[in-house]
Amino acid sequence: MEDAGNPHGCEDASSQSQFSSNDKFQPSKLGTKEYWDHAYERELQSFYDSGDVGEIWFGEESMDRIITWLALQDIPKDAALLDIGTGNGYFLIELAKSGFTNLTGIDNSPPAVELAKAFAEKEEVMTLKLQVADILHPFPNLSQYEICIDKGTFDAISLSPDDPAEKLSLYRQALHSVLKDGGLFLITSCNWTKEELISHFNKGFEMLQELPTPKFQFGGKTGNSVTALVFKRK
Ligand SMILES: C[S@@+](CC[C@H](N)C(=O)[O-])C[C@H]1O[C@@H](n2cnc3c(N)ncnc32)[C@H](O)[C@@H]1O
Repeated sequence: MEDAGNPHGCEDASSQSQFSSNDKFQPSKLGTKEYWDHAYERELQSFYDSGDVGEIWFGEESMDRIITWLALQDIPKDAALLDIGTGNGYFLIELAKSGFTNLTGIDNSPPAVELAKAFAEKEEVMTLKLQVADILHPFPNLSQYEICIDKGTFDAISLSPDDPAEKLSLYRQALHSVLKDGGLFLITSCNWTKEELISHFNKGFEMLQELPTPKFQFGGKTGNSVTALVFKRK
């Protein structure tokens, strides 16, 4: 994937969150559909050429963390789960391999969905429902889910050069409409702190748990480069 200036479009671990309190939204190419279309067109070609599926955002441990947490809950394996901005679909394939059977992934980038379909076929995971859709404009057949997962998509939308605050507000409303009452939302972010995420999702959601992520130390302070939280829809 094209170098976005740092590994995951995030500042490195020794610096602050990408958004400082005075300058919340710094537009970036990572906030545009063109960027993702271009990136996944190249990843799709690379997949067809060499079988390389491309970037795992936040690394393997970001998937393990959530799969381990889900396994500890009393969640039926056929619970309806939506991966918002599924990218190459890697996470859904791992969830299917861990036994989940009712998995949907959406992405507004057509080549991402094509890549996810091709990768799932290669891995012989034939049960995924993958579709091109924009979470900011959910359409009626995007039915209600028991679990929604976001790994890097809220971050990408935050970087939109075009009215990000409005888009983040739309995101929260859309999430609320696609999640069932009492449903779970698991978000992994590198651009937002725990407090910022709690504040953003305060309306309509309650924070249930913070999942442990690697910590760094800098200037005598300890912080996390990645935040992983579980919310419950109210
Ligand atoms: C940082 S990537 C993460 C991909 C994937 N979740 C992963 O962990 O590998 C962000 C993804 O969000 C998708 N995306 C951005 N805005 C979106 C939107 N409004 N609706 C659906 N997907 C979106 C991008 O196309 C891209 O696949």
